[in-house]
Formats: sequence, structure tokens, C-alpha cells
Amino acid sequence: MSNQHFLTLQDIAPQDLDALIDRAITLKAAHRAGEASPQFPGSVMAMIFAKSSTRTRVSFEAGMAQMGGHAMFLSPGDTQLGRGEPIEDSARVISSMVDIVMIRTFGHDIVERFAANSSVPVINALTDDFHPCQLLADMQTYREHRGSIRGKTVCWLGDGNNMCHSYINAARQFDFKLHIACPEGFEPRADLLENNSDRVRVFHEAQSAVEGCSLLVTDVWASMGQEEEQARRAAAMAPFQLNATLLAAAEPDALYMHCLPAHRGEEISAELMDSPATIIWDEAENRLHAQKALIEYLLKTA
Ligand code: CP
Ligand code: NVA
Repeated sequence: MSNQHFLTLQDIAPQDLDALIDRAITLKAAHRAGEASPQFPGSVMAMIFAKSSTRTRVSFEAGMAQMGGHAMFLSPGDTQLGRGEPIEDSARVISSMVDIVMIRTFGHDIVERFAANSSVPVINALTDDFHPCQLLADMQTYREHRGSIRGKTVCWLGDGNNMCHSYINAARQFDFKLHIACPEGFEPRADLLENNSDRVRVFHEAQSAVEGCSLLVTDVWASMGQEEEQARRAAAMAPFQLNATLLAAAEPDALYMHCLPAHRGEEISAELMDSPATIIWDEAENRLHAQKALIEYLLKTA
């Protein structure tokens, strides 16, 4: 089936991503002004969550309601997905009844298999490998505060995880350089590094990695599904904590972000999390506006 899906940032061309961020900023202003934008009355989104969520669920559900549609929460515990009904069969049935589907799950192959059998657009709302929706919000937030990110250098700190992989994809789509500061053994996927070696560089030490950077980003050290590795990961990643000392070594106007949920005193200091200057709360709110722009793009392209 040849729908427009959003499984990674590479599914949308760079110029369309730029336009989508512009649209997110416009939708945010309209929302703040109290203007209604019910452009999809009667449209239904199926939201399949195999992992926990606060921001993703609230932003998609609120976004669909604000656009005149409805969002339906589906968890494995309440659907036949949790009892082993094949992804392919589920995709065929669910997509025959709704207009758009959002999936948060473990293996990235699950969203790919769902999309291959879906008659409507499918959004990746986080897999073990990628979290592209978060990057839309992050890129919107950077643009709102500093303008274009093109040509800048960003530093990713900590685990070479799903968010780090999406930052690698973003480096290409939004045209910036990326430094990845992580302990040995926690590097991102080798194929992503190889394919983006013109703009991505790995460091095993944080101080030199942040030099010249306009944005520092981190995330939890143990992602969902890795809870039992928490202690080993915390020990390895402690030198990569995002804190005031590292921020001072970056560009003078550098921003910092965290997709949340955060652990104060681990991957980010309490001082930076609770600073009045942080833009992390804008970043979280922008999930709503960026995803409304994404839904609009996908439903209009479908
Ligand atoms: N950042 C993010 O995706 O948050 P949730 O896990 O709360 O959805
Ligand atoms: N890397 C984290 C992101 C949570 C939004 C995880 O996958 O759990």
C-alpha cells in the first residue's frame, strides 16, 4: 500500500519538514489566540501503545480533539494485539475503520509491518530505534528561540539510543552537524554513523564534544525496556551528565533540551532542569503543535 507514513524523519523531504515546522508555529499561535481549527471533523486516530507515555498520548489525543476529530487509546492489554493477533491482520482491520494510526512499540519492524499493511497513514510514536515525533517538537523549539538550525553544531550526550538515532536523521534532514558524546559500548547504530559520517562525529568524552555547539541534548540513560540495566548504565554515563559546567563550555547562546521524562541528578542536573531559563517545557508543549501539523500533512497527502 502506498500511503504517506511517518516512521522516520527520512519519510518527509527536507523542504516539507521545514514547511511543517512553520505550520506548527502558526498552529501554536492560533491555539494561543483561542482560534479553533476543526479541519478534520469526524476523523479518527487509533493510538496503539505497547509502552508507557504521558506527552505522546496527551498531545495526540488533545491534537485530534482540537482539529475536530477523535483519538482512540488502544493498549495490548485490552486488544487482541496483546493475545498474539498478527500485526499484519491488525493493521488491515484497524486501518479499515480509522483515518490515521499512531504506534508506540518495541521493535521498529513492528511499525514497518503495520505500515506495509495499513490503508491509512501510520505515525511512529517511538520504537526502540527511533522517535521522530520528538524531533519535530525539538526542531520547532530551536527555531522559535534561535532561528534556523542549518549549519549549527548540536551535541547529543549520554546513550546512543532511539532519540540519538533520530538526531542523526535530523542532522541530515535539517542540515546540521552532530557530535555524539557517549561512553564506549553505548554508541548509536553503526549503519547510521556510517551513512552520515559527513556530519556526525562520536566522542568518548563530553567536554571537547560540546565545544562550538549551539544545542546540547540528552535523554534517560535506560530507555523503556532497559530498566534492569539502570545501574550499569548510570555508572558508565555519569561523566556525560548535562550540567552547567558543560553548558558553559558550549557556545555562549547555547540551548539545551530533554525529551522528558527526566531524572534530575542523573542525565541532567537539577539546576538545569529547574532553571527559569530552560526551554524544556516549551519543547514538551511543542509536541502538540508539531504533531497537529504532522497529522494535517499526512491526512492532506493521503
Ligand atoms: N518525550 C516523550 O515521548 O514523552 P512520553 O514518553 O511521556 O510520551
Ligand atoms: N529513550 C527514551 C525516550 C522516552 C520518551 C525511551 O525510549 O524510553
